[in-house]
This record gives sequence, structure tokens and C-alpha cells, in this order.
Amino acid sequence: CSTSKTSKLAYCIKGTFVHSTDSSPMEILQDHIMGVNSNGKIEFFENARKQVELAKKWRFSESDIRELGSHEFCMPGMVDTHIHASQYSFSGTALDLSLLDWLDKYTFPTERKYKEAEFAKTIYSSIVRRTLRNGTTTACYFATIYTDSSLLLAEIANNYGQRAFVGKVCMDINNCAANYKETTDESIAETERFIKEFLERKYCRVKPIITPRFAVSCSEELLQELGELAKIHGTHIQSHISEAVGEVESVKTLFPNYKHYTDVYDKSKLLTDKTVMAHGCYLSDEELAIFRERGAAISHCPNSNISLCSGHLDVRKVLKHKVKIGLGTDVAGGYCSSMLDAIRRAIDTSKVLYIQYELGSSHSNQQTMPTSKTFSIQKEKYTALSYKEAFRLATLGGSQALNIDDVTGNFQIGKEFDAILVSPCVPGGPFDVFADDTFEDVVQKFLNLGDDRNIKGVYVAGQQVVPLPNA
Ligand code: GUN
Ligand code: FE
Repeated sequence: CSTSKTSKLAYCIKGTFVHSTDSSPMEILQDHIMGVNSNGKIEFFENARKQVELAKKWRFSESDIRELGSHEFCMPGMVDTHIHASQYSFSGTALDLSLLDWLDKYTFPTERKYKEAEFAKTIYSSIVRRTLRNGTTTACYFATIYTDSSLLLAEIANNYGQRAFVGKVCMDINNCAANYKETTDESIAETERFIKEFLERKYCRVKPIITPRFAVSCSEELLQELGELAKIHGTHIQSHISEAVGEVESVKTLFPNYKHYTDVYDKSKLLTDKTVMAHGCYLSDEELAIFRERGAAISHCPNSNISLCSGHLDVRKVLKHKVKIGLGTDVAGGYCSSMLDAIRRAIDTSKVLYIQYELGSSHSNQQTMPTSKTFSIQKEKYTALSYKEAFRLATLGGSQALNIDDVTGNFQIGKEFDAILVSPCVPGGPFDVFADDTFEDVVQKFLNLGDDRNIKGVYVAGQQVVPLPNA
């Protein structure tokens, strides 16, 4: 990756910017000007009052500035922390079974098709194009067990300019029905080859990620070897954990000598600060404390949790434990590849939990709640996620979960410019903006009602990647 030390200013953008910080889930900065340098990094980000001063310092003129329209805004690109690129072909279908049956009936037979490079190329190109159009600037992909077609996914993401992690899936037990599995030795040897060939290609923003499918599909030996490989190569790690009741029960039976599901991964050194585990609906406080200690993250995949009737993740509980968390589409368990959908489903899930916790129990609580001062410790009030908090999960939260928040996730100076240019008022668009709408209203409408028709441009490390070539 060529980044020169002496970077020049490449272009400026002027208008409204919306992003998250650690202290604020959503900042709306109107009338601001941002400079992006030739390395794709944010060089300055200031109130436009300073334009004359900045223009002198950075030697730009009015014609170097891209000025946004009155309702338009720039927001960070979204980070999909968990998506199965190989399942895109059947997304929107096959949602009638619960996890383990769904894997056997639909998923494993589909993933087998990726032995064929041509098939893989078609679907992988489609999902990379689709997610980019939807504003996903970073995607953390599961591919399949096949090394060569998994390498092809990495090449396609790189060619389209998406920031990505790509994992060759590992699974050596419990999948005989679909004839879709590898031996333990094959899985280890192929993962080593995958990492070696991947790193030889020296992609700037596409990285390999060690990918045991989940404990149900992996022997103890395989998990331990993968933990070793991750340590040797310093790679990221992804898998699934505590997604569904049947799966958790299976893990108890398969791994009787471990304390709990988290312990299975932890003992194999698979929980690190570069680990992202999907779902986590049934994790206990004790398990979350281990996540926090290891710096491991959770990918919240609400569409999938509902679609496969797996369960709900309580984001508040995860945040309380200070465990890193982002959002994932989990295509095709989740039927929608758009992170805007993940934002909406995360809010819906949180409201369902609010209904259960606060409304469902309030009647009986009111009758039994002691009023005496000696019993004044009240149950903490549950609040549903706000749209601003969900926005942060989809952007900064995701970058933290993938341990890339030093590079992307918001518009902090020095980070790479990964962004979406949103145009709320498009002819034939999905929603309307009225004169009395505040800017907050406009942003909220986009998050709740918007789609790719509102996404006029997508940038990764300063490079415009949408509109797509041959769109
Ligand atoms: N657990 C193991 N494999 C999968 C998968 O492909 N999708 C989901 N949602 N959960 C899994
Ligand atoms: Fe998944």
C-alpha cells in the first residue's frame, strides 16, 4: 500500500456532516468543511468560517470544493461486522426453519456450490456491489470452506475498493448430511494456505480473518490449531456464539468439560481483541465479563435473530459490560444486506425488550415494589436504543468491534475518509422532506426510511467507489 509521507490535499467537501464520537452517539455539524488528502485521510475538518484561512494554508480554491445541497449530508460508511457473502444467492428466501435445520437444509448445500469458481465469481461480485451501493464501506465476510473461491472474494472486494475481512470457513465435524465438510488436517492446511496466499497479494484494505464456523462444526483440535494460527499471523478471528437454544445445547453435549460456550473459544485462544463473535443472545454476565477482559467483540445481527427465531440480544446488557459491539446483517439468516435494515431491526429488538421488561412486568412490580427506604434499590429503568445509538453501532461501534477504529468509523482528523453522501430529496425517492423538518428529522427519516436511492456517493479511503463501474 503506497502512502506517501508528504500528502497533498486531494479535495474538499463543504456542507453538513453527521458522525458519532465516544461521547456523543450523533453529532450533526452543519456548515463545515473537510479536506481529504492524497492518502485518502482526513486532513482537516473545521467550521466553514475558517475557509479563507484553510484555503491559504492548503492552497485550494473554490473549484476544489464539492458543496453539498441544503438537505444533503455526509456520514461515515457503515460497517457490516458479520455477513455470509456465500449465502447472498438465497437471501430473502428459506426463512422457515430454526438455525441447525436451516444450516442443513439450505445453507450447507448452497455453500457447496462455491467449489465452482464461476458460480462464486457471480455471487461474490453481486454481494460486494450490493453492499457498496447500500453504503457498507467495511464488510466482515464469511466465504465457504473452499480456499480458492474464498481468495476470489478477497480479490473482488479489493477490485471494487471495499474495505473487508474475508474468512475461509473451517468445519470438520457434524455436517455429513450435506457432504460439506473437511478433515481436521485439511482445514488447518487450507487455512494456512489461505493466509499465505492472501498476504502475498498485499491488498491495502482487505485482510484475512480466521473463521471457525462455530463450536458445533469444529473439533477441539481444530479450534486449538486455529487459535494458534491466529496468534502466529496476528490475524483477526470471527465465529458464531450463543445464537440459538438448540446450538447452545449442542455445545454443552459436544464440549462437556468446558464451563460454558465462551470457555470453549477462550481455551482455544480464539477470544482476542481482534475477535468478533456473531449473535451472543444467550451469553451470561460471566461470559460477557470474559469478552470484556479479552477485548473480544459482539456482532449484533437482529434481522437474523428474528428471522430464524433464534432469540434477542440485549444490547444494553452488552454495553453495560463495556463489551465492544457492532451490527451485522448476517445474510442470509438475515434477509437484508443493507445496514440501514440492521439499524432498524436493532431498534425494533430493543423496543421489544423494553415492552417485555418495562411494560410486561410493570403491573406486578407496582403491586409488589416496596416503598420503605430500606428497600429503595429500584430496578434500573430499561430504555430502548435510540436511533442515534443505533447509528453509532452501525458506524463507530462496528469499527471498534473490528479493531479498526484507529483507521475508520467517524470523521476524526487522521482517519481514512470512508463515507456516504446522502441525498434525502431524490425524485421518486423513498420518503419526503418537508419545510418544518429539522436536520435531525432528515437524518432520522433517512435511517428509518431511506435506501440506496438516497446514496449518491460512497467513498473508501478517499476514493469514490459508488456509483459503481458498469452500474
Ligand atoms: N452458525 C453457524 N453457521 C451459521 C450461519 O451460516 N449462519 C448463522 N446465522 N449462524 C450460523
Ligand atoms: Fe452468521
